[in-house]
Amino acid sequence: MESLFERCSKVMSGVSGRATKLGVVNAEGSYLYTEDGRKILDFASGVAVNNIGAKHPEVVAAIKEEADRMIHVGHNVVYYESYVALAEKLVAMTGGDTKVYFSNSGAEANEGALKLAKYVTKRPAVIAFRNSFHGRTIGCVSITGSNAAYRKYYEPLLPAVYWAEYNNLTQFDEIFAKMVAPEMVAAIIVEPVQGEGGYILPEEGFLQGLRKICDAHGIMLIFDEIQTGIGRTGELYAYQTFGVKPDILTSAKALGGGIPLSAIIARKELMDAWPAGAHGGTFGGNPLACAAGLKTLEIIERDHLLEQCKRMGAYFVEGLKGLQEKYDMVRNVRGVGLMDAMEIVTAEGLPDAQMCARIKEKALEKDLLLLTCGSDHNVVRFIAPLTVCKEEIDACLSILNEVIGELEVLHGNVTNVYGSKQN
Ligand SMILES: Cc1ncc(COP(=O)(O)O)c(C=O)c1O
Repeated sequence: MESLFERCSKVMSGVSGRATKLGVVNAEGSYLYTEDGRKILDFASGVAVNNIGAKHPEVVAAIKEEADRMIHVGHNVVYYESYVALAEKLVAMTGGDTKVYFSNSGAEANEGALKLAKYVTKRPAVIAFRNSFHGRTIGCVSITGSNAAYRKYYEPLLPAVYWAEYNNLTQFDEIFAKMVAPEMVAAIIVEPVQGEGGYILPEEGFLQGLRKICDAHGIMLIFDEIQTGIGRTGELYAYQTFGVKPDILTSAKALGGGIPLSAIIARKELMDAWPAGAHGGTFGGNPLACAAGLKTLEIIERDHLLEQCKRMGAYFVEGLKGLQEKYDMVRNVRGVGLMDAMEIVTAEGLPDAQMCARIKEKALEKDLLLLTCGSDHNVVRFIAPLTVCKEEIDACLSILNEVIGELEVLHGNVTNVYGSKQN
């Protein structure tokens, strides 16, 4: 019988790429079940979507209940409970001084955030960061600096986008003096932890510094929390982890409990200055998505998943550091909550994309699903669900230990460059 991969290749565009050839027939908690009978430990979580584990039974029940009431009624036609209740919950969970606008994808939320910043400031320019990833629409590609492939043949893109180095505050005097006057800048958009760019953490004071710069010049600070949001860093949003509040934040991925849903969450005064007609869309805040999102937030609170995320994240990073001590090819283990990563390097300490891909491949042969990231394609990222337990983390570490050990021996035999550290 043909596999799903084989059937798919005949009828689907391959444009978005796919990390594996797995055909999945069921997904539950931390596991995927494949058409050929495998049970895979999933540390990709559908790329940071299944934060409370796949197919949580209470989310399934909430979707079914909502579907019995309504599937689509149109947020720009009528009002409905799940939509309003989720917005109320998000406002309460982001300090009570915000308002919300729902759309469907991360890119769509970022588009809306840029439009909001431009609308309220009446300024044209945006500052984005090298290594960033904000999505695939033309607007989002224009502010994405992590891979030339995302931009190739799509230029000209949005004008008035200026680039800054992540984790560098001193550059702004020069940017404002030589490239763009600060009073022309509508927004600085930043991922509080760079995701696709390599799980790069903000240095002490960086986000605070951005806040000060924005305050000094009336610039909107936008946090793209599409990957960092919904508990990933140990608080609902990373701005709470790092103690810096943006003017506008965007949330997606895990927000809808697996159903497409995104949100722009912004200071109330900004939302109040964005009048009817200035933005919109048909599907944003679909009833099924809002019901699933509401249940997801309830579960995160009730089951203390933020605490669990911090605890399990610390345990995981500790284990990864053990691998770093043992193997020369592992460097720069880092993480916040369950947004964790390690770099793979050559004997000369240079990014080793090939070896990183081999680790991912061999881990999957042993039924562990991992993703990679980084502008140099040499970062293994770990996106376990917040519900992950010690046994699952131990299983992941043990597979990694085997895989890296085998690769080091293999590589050592071929080129004789690696030697395991003695410890
Ligand atoms: C930080 C960040 N922003 C934006 C996006 C785009 O989200 P979507 O794929 O839902 O459009 C992603 C997706 O990976 C992301 O990680």
